[in-house]
Amino acid sequence: MTTTRGLRKQAGEEPITMLTAYDAPTASIIEDAGIDVILVGDSMGNAVLGYDSTIPVTMDDIASRTGAVARATEETLVVADLPFLSFGADEAESIHNAGRLLKEEGADAVKIESGDHTVALTEALVDVGIPVMGHLGLTPQHVNELGYARQGTDREAAESIIELAEAHEAAGAFALVLEHVPANLAAVITERLEIPTIGIGAGPECDGQVLVITDVLGLNDWSPSFSEQFGDVGAETRRAVAAYRDAVTDGSFPADEHSYVEEDLEGLDDVG
Ligand code: KIV
Ligand code: NA
Repeated sequence: MTTTRGLRKQAGEEPITMLTAYDAPTASIIEDAGIDVILVGDSMGNAVLGYDSTIPVTMDDIASRTGAVARATEETLVVADLPFLSFGADEAESIHNAGRLLKEEGADAVKIESGDHTVALTEALVDVGIPVMGHLGLTPQHVNELGYARQGTDREAAESIIELAEAHEAAGAFALVLEHVPANLAAVITERLEIPTIGIGAGPECDGQVLVITDVLGLNDWSPSFSEQFGDVGAETRRAVAAYRDAVTDGSFPADEHSYVEEDLEGLDDVG
């Protein structure tokens, strides 16, 4: 079973593998493959809910999908994202929202898009027993402020990310996602922190890597340049759907083996 403590031991010895999932069948496949961590990311907004950002994703969206992923897995560490405005406005409400994902839905930890405003919250969550994964660099919930540009590209910005990384480690975060930052910045942070770094568009020196499952499977129209498609489930889905359409249209489905005739109903056409 993957634990937050186990991840820390794994860091630096063997790369940590993490993928997002938003449903039970995908989570089950990911677990069977021995992936260490599943993130029920608010990337579900773009990936599966049809939004063009993560901003509209609600606690109920995350909760229902976290439940599905947790029910489908036993060994994998399940981390649920706290969506936009579910944290940060009020500490008690933030703790309640995070706690709901563990207590009612079976998550093992939460992830929070981090900044100056989440250091105290990280500490408060860890204090009540909610493990926290931080997230620095590109934080898509700040799209209205930052867009989707690479972060930490000048010295001042890089230093501020290093300081925030250290502050979140000190606050008790068990791991840190680094998104879309220069590989050499991610390498410095990975070197300085005891807790594992998990990169996405952050180069090979992180302790682990994460990608969005629909990008990996080729299910999205668009995917970021730092992502990689490892299969073409989109093409296979198109093929299967077209084959079904054709089989119904030409009468070859359903065949005899998909249907049965109930002898007791002989003569039913006399009714009425
Ligand atoms: O929501 C998400 O999928 C994420 C990862 C990209 C780290 O936050
Ligand atoms: Na996210």
